[in-house]
Amino acid sequence: MADQPTYYLTTPIYYVNDVPHIGHAYTTLASDVLARFKRLDGYDVLFLTGTDEHGQKVEKSAAAAGVDPQQFCDQVSERFRDLAAKMNFSNDQFVRTTEARHKTAVQHLWGILEDKGWIYQASYAGWYSVRDEAYYSESELQDDGQGGKLAPTGAPVEWVEEPSYFFKLSAFQDKLLALYDGQPDFVMPKSRLNEVRSFVAGGLEDLSISRTSFRWGVPVPGNHDHVMYVWIDALTNYLTATGYPDTPPSDGYWPADVHMIGKDILRFHAVYWPAFLMAADLPLPKRVFAHGWWTNEGQKISKSLGNVIDPFDLVDTYGLDQVRYFLLREVPFGNDGDFSKAALLSRCNADLANDLGNLAQRSLSMIFKNCGGAVPEPGELTADDEAILAGAAAALDAVRGHMDQQAFHRALDTIWRVIGDANAYFAAQEPWALKKTDPERMNTVLFVTAECLRRFATLIQPFMPQSAEALGAVLANPSLAFSDIAELGMTPGTPIDKPTPIFPRLEVEDAA
Ligand code: MSP
Repeated sequence: MADQPTYYLTTPIYYVNDVPHIGHAYTTLASDVLARFKRLDGYDVLFLTGTDEHGQKVEKSAAAAGVDPQQFCDQVSERFRDLAAKMNFSNDQFVRTTEARHKTAVQHLWGILEDKGWIYQASYAGWYSVRDEAYYSESELQDDGQGGKLAPTGAPVEWVEEPSYFFKLSAFQDKLLALYDGQPDFVMPKSRLNEVRSFVAGGLEDLSISRTSFRWGVPVPGNHDHVMYVWIDALTNYLTATGYPDTPPSDGYWPADVHMIGKDILRFHAVYWPAFLMAADLPLPKRVFAHGWWTNEGQKISKSLGNVIDPFDLVDTYGLDQVRYFLLREVPFGNDGDFSKAALLSRCNADLANDLGNLAQRSLSMIFKNCGGAVPEPGELTADDEAILAGAAAALDAVRGHMDQQAFHRALDTIWRVIGDANAYFAAQEPWALKKTDPERMNTVLFVTAECLRRFATLIQPFMPQSAEALGAVLANPSLAFSDIAELGMTPGTPIDKPTPIFPRLEVEDAA
């Protein structure tokens, strides 16, 4: 660890009022791919996910289920850990806001904000949405047609009047605007930066940060009539996992390199969170990336419509790496996307079964049958051979650039372009014809193709770790280290097993 640069990335911590769905799987998947890439690229990574267990919403869900809130949290939080196992997520930590270490961290931060004069006591009178766990101003609301009001998200709001502690958010307007202007990639994509900027430019009111009308939260230090507002509690999880307050932020992983979130929770991460950190004199995260939302076959996903996509079912039906690939390839990361079975099938069949799977199956079967079941000895490499190998190796730099922008779709597009080039090379070289006319050249072409496959296995590791490993295994386990990508890593003479398809074709029945 000593000499490695650190890289810290986080997912939102998920509310335990509900079981995991595709949206949760998506944010953590994107983070997982980035975490894996950075580890392979030599970073000491801390990849954090977890569950957000306090607040009125969770308290109400527990009551509706007829269980004590802690027991309810224990049960649902476990489903999120199951999801991580099912999706092959490589998180280093799983934080729960009901853990003692978290309570210590958030109460410590509160104490600092209070000591520095950023917290005062008054009373709140205004609108609150339990579903969003958010305060709204009158001007943001719409009538629901039945005498009630709705938040811009469509969530019902209720009028709340109670004593409350406030955070002096209004004092941070200029500092936040200076942050967005001085560091424009603090919020990505750009459209989201503009959204946040105009919200802040419109003026900030002080933020109510405690509640007295329910009990399920972290008690305010020194005044246990109040529990903390769930968002100050939740956001602090990002510090908790770094060992705060025992580990000084300068000694560990803080500040985060990327907070990966969905667009729905941008305001909390790009306005409140940096303001809390500025107030406490703590370093700011380097980036907040807000991705888009999935719809299902053109419809908004909602429990009432009954069209929630269960990630466990998805993986059982289509395969883990197929799902991982589809979610990150189909939609430019940052945009909204529509999930459809037809799109998943055609994507996986075209890109995985055909482009990569068939190339591997055809070339390795030829090696198995015609080269004595071992990696062939290449002759002298031609310019075409050198070009295809160099292209596959050079893809890594391009992929790195895209990963640093969280452009996962571009990274995959880059990899699939070189896979396309390798298919064109294989077709043009016609090794099956060379078998009779020039077996030595056939050996060279098959070696070069296998060497390309090794490079593809290296490149796809963060996205499809199991398939990369399986491809590595049929290639007799050569190095898949990034540092070896430009080497000739296949060893002639190494026996290979009879190949079996890495990506079987998905049939329409799979989707039934
Ligand atoms: N607990 C808060 C986050 C606190 S972070 C300090 C929360 N939790 S949540 O369970 O509601 O999860 C929200 C996240 O789920 C969103 O930010 C987004 O990442 C993801 N999604 C939920 N529905 C989604 C879609 N339909 N599509 C894509 N992602 C969506 O908010």
